[in-house]
Amino acid sequence: VADNRPIGVFDSGVGGLTVVRKAMEILPNESIIYLGDTARVPYGNKTPGLIRLYSQQCARFLLAHDVKLIVVACNTASAVALNTVQEISPVPVIGVITPAAKMALSHSPNGNIGIIGTRTTVRSKAYDADLWQMSEQRRLTVQAAACPLFVPLVEEGMEQHPATRAIAADYLRPFKESPVDVLILGCTHFPLLAEVIQQELPDTTLINSGEAAVSTALGVLNSINARRTATETPRRSFYVTDFPDTFPGIANRFLGVSGVHAEQVSIEELSTHHDHAHHD
Ligand code: DGL
Repeated sequence: VADNRPIGVFDSGVGGLTVVRKAMEILPNESIIYLGDTARVPYGNKTPGLIRLYSQQCARFLLAHDVKLIVVACNTASAVALNTVQEISPVPVIGVITPAAKMALSHSPNGNIGIIGTRTTVRSKAYDADLWQMSEQRRLTVQAAACPLFVPLVEEGMEQHPATRAIAADYLRPFKESPVDVLILGCTHFPLLAEVIQQELPDTTLINSGEAAVSTALGVLNSINARRTATETPRRSFYVTDFPDTFPGIANRFLGVSGVHAEQVSIEELSTHHDHAHHD
């Protein structure tokens, strides 16, 4: 049994390419369709209702491309819109929150867990809810900090800039004052700041939420016998809702390979997209 259809991945913008990067490592034989909603990024400062609407539109686009599974790469969308996407999807939908929470618990000897993400992700308390639910009576302390400025700093390529170090020192102070043994990088952009964050918190294990989600996707595909078996090179297609001139450079840095080619899909097209895959 095999399923050669692509995996669909969507994100609020380019950040989800860090998740595609992990997918290319962990699932090298799988075809991928990526949609980045670059016209409407950031989601991280928006309210849940709007993020749910946008996420459904992104998912419908992927479903119309006959995907076998959807990965919600965006932490913010995973935090507030996962159910909304699952409701309209005939195929499995995997968010980043539950897999990352599970990975954090398994890497935390003392149950002191930190979370960083966008404002909406932190405010949603989605990570907290999953951690408590899976804690199995373990003693747990959970603390979270919103780090909104990290997103534009990474997009500007300022990972090593002194300003970024200063902001990191400020944002991460709570985790120095009461130390955590693991810190969930609860945002697509934060793996690019791993070095800076690790310098601030040298004794803390960092959890890449995208990597956790891709490992879960692998498990799901195995459990439903849906791995791709075709021997031709897998196809990887990238769509964006707007083409800012910073796109090629950012895409190369996030994905770790150069020459990423993306096609534009207009917001009008996205908002009128009704999935052919799901009319009963
Ligand atoms: N992709 C978002 C996340 O992982 C970060 C960028 C945004 O705010 O849209 O939360």
